[in-house]
Parts: sequence; structure tokens; C-alpha cells
Amino acid sequence: KLLSADAEGISKASALLRDGALVAIPTETVYGLAADATSDLAVAAIFDAKGRPTFNPLIVHVASLKEAEKIAEFDADAIRLAEAFWPGPLTLVLPLKPGARISKLVSAGLQTVALRVPAQAEARAVLKALGRPLAAPSANPSGRISPTTAAHVIEGLGGRIAAVLDAGPCSVGLESTILATRPTPVLLRPGGLPRDAIEACLGSPVADRQEGEGITAPGQLTSHYAPKGSLRLNAASARPGEVMLGFGPVAADLNLSPGSDLREAAARLFDCLHMLDAKGAKQIAVSPIPDVGLGLAINDRLRRAAAPRG
Ligand code: TXA
Ligand code: MG
Repeated sequence: KLLSADAEGISKASALLRDGALVAIPTETVYGLAADATSDLAVAAIFDAKGRPTFNPLIVHVASLKEAEKIAEFDADAIRLAEAFWPGPLTLVLPLKPGARISKLVSAGLQTVALRVPAQAEARAVLKALGRPLAAPSANPSGRISPTTAAHVIEGLGGRIAAVLDAGPCSVGLESTILATRPTPVLLRPGGLPRDAIEACLGSPVADRQEGEGITAPGQLTSHYAPKGSLRLNAASARPGEVMLGFGPVAADLNLSPGSDLREAAARLFDCLHMLDAKGAKQIAVSPIPDVGLGLAINDRLRRAAAPRG
């Protein structure tokens, strides 16, 4: 069930995926619950295992821009971004090419498809060995904290998947940034690629998604990435009964980054939330995180984790 990140593990993972099974694979952002994106049955199994509403479309992972161009129509901005940031933590939402061999369940009936080329060597090796695109949402039960280790995946989905390819903790630790380029660039989800890097590449500002506009996606639902306890954000210190999740040089039970490094904080965020869950923390106070660079995506996840549960 736990496959090691070597040639044998990669070939076993690809064989299972070719047979239509679900395999959790490591990416640099979070572990993905992967299935053959060309198979309706395999893709349906993803929604089933996660308990995910089927109106929420999935990200398709491919080995290269060349493969991506077989699936979607790339405009000039999309090409420029793909060339600058792929492989890496950027997902592009683009018009689906007519006749692309992607299960309709992947895009939930939309005329667009979300695509990304992951940077993680093991994910790329599986994609190359399989020779097919992989649909993969984060490998957690719908609404729960995303997994950044193989242990997180097993804890959440253990009995429901064929295997986990274990490559250790994810280096970025936050999901990819999702951007639609048409008609003008819109940020659909902040993530592992900071917005300012995208704006610098395009030479123009990127708009925010308007609340309530377009599709409602799990990562866009107000309550998401939720630990079992409640969160109080922008806390200077813990109140009696609270567990402190710190950032920077503060007294804390767990610290995202004592040295105030946003990259380190992003990589540790979900693991810290998983640990607080495991401890049974009921009330969690969280230090303020600066709203710049990766801090924007960290604060987005924290706000959703803190939101009232629906
Ligand atoms: O880093 C990541 O992106 C991870 C790893 C595994 O690649 N995947 C991930 O997938 O976060 P998931 O399913 O948890 O989030 C996918 C997001 C959802 O918010 C979904 O609604 C959005 O992508 N999405 C997918 N297709 C879309 C489309 N055609 N239009 C707009 N949003 C779309
Ligand atoms: Mg997710």
C-alpha cells in the first residue's frame, strides 16, 4: 500500500493507475489523489473516495506543456506563464480543446479545464511512465486539511485508495495558484506561486475572482481546509484554554516559522494543523501572518480554516 519513491514504486503506481485504481502521488504542493483522467470510472472513484461534490472540477496533471496543448487552447498569456512557471505550482484554467481525451467528469461539464505540470520528480516520472494525463485533487476527504505527507493521506483516506507513493514531505506545502487567463487574467485561488511573480511575468495586474462569480470550487468554499478545533486569527498571544500556533519570535505551542520565513511557514502550515487535530486542540490561536508573497495564500487558507462550518 505504501510505495517507496524509487523505480519500483513508480512502476507499481503507474500500473495501478493504468488499471483505473486510485493512487495518492506526491507533488511539490500537496499530495494528490490521482486517477487516469481519460477514464470516467477512475475519475468517478476520486469523487467517491473524497466525498467530493461532483460539480467541483478537478485539476489535470500532465508531463509537459506539449501534452497540455493537446488538451486545452493556450492563448499568448497562458504560453508565457507556462514557459515561465512550469513545472511548478501554477494551474491554468483554459478552454478545453474539442475532442480532447479527458473524461467529462473532470471538468464537471464546464467548457474549460484546469491544467498543471507538477515539479515533483516522482509525479513527473509517473506521468511519463503512464503516458496519460492524471486528474488529481488534494488527497484528503472533502473539506478537511490537505495532506503534505504520506501519513496525512493514510490518516484521511487510508481504506479508500490502492496505494500512496511516499516521497516525504511536500516542499511548497500549499496548493497551486489557480489562474484563468481569459478574457483577462483572474486569480481563482492564491497558492504556492505568489501573485506578484505572475504579475511581473505578465507585466500587468491580475484581477481577483469576484465572490459568487463562476463556479464554486471546494478551495473557494468559505469553510475549507478545516481542522476539528476552532481558529482565532491575528492573535498576539494565547488566551486560557487556547493552543498557540505562532509565527515569528513569539511564545507558542507550535511555530510555523520562528524566523518569520513565509516559505517555511507555507511548507509547515498543513502539517501543523494536522498535528493540532491529532492533539485534540479545541481552540487554536494563530499569530498574524504578513499579507505579502506566500503570506497571501497562507492567510487565505487560515481564513477558510477559521470560517464557520456549513
Ligand atoms: O496543488 C494543487 O493544485 C493540488 C495538487 C494535487 O496538484 N491539487 C488541488 O486540487 O488542489 P483540488 O481539486 O483540491 O483543487 C482544484 C481546484 C478547485 O478549487 C477546482 O474547483 C478548481 O481547481 N478547478 C478545476 N477545474 C476548474 C475549472 N475548469 N474552472 C475553474 N476552476 C477549476
Ligand atoms: Mg483540495
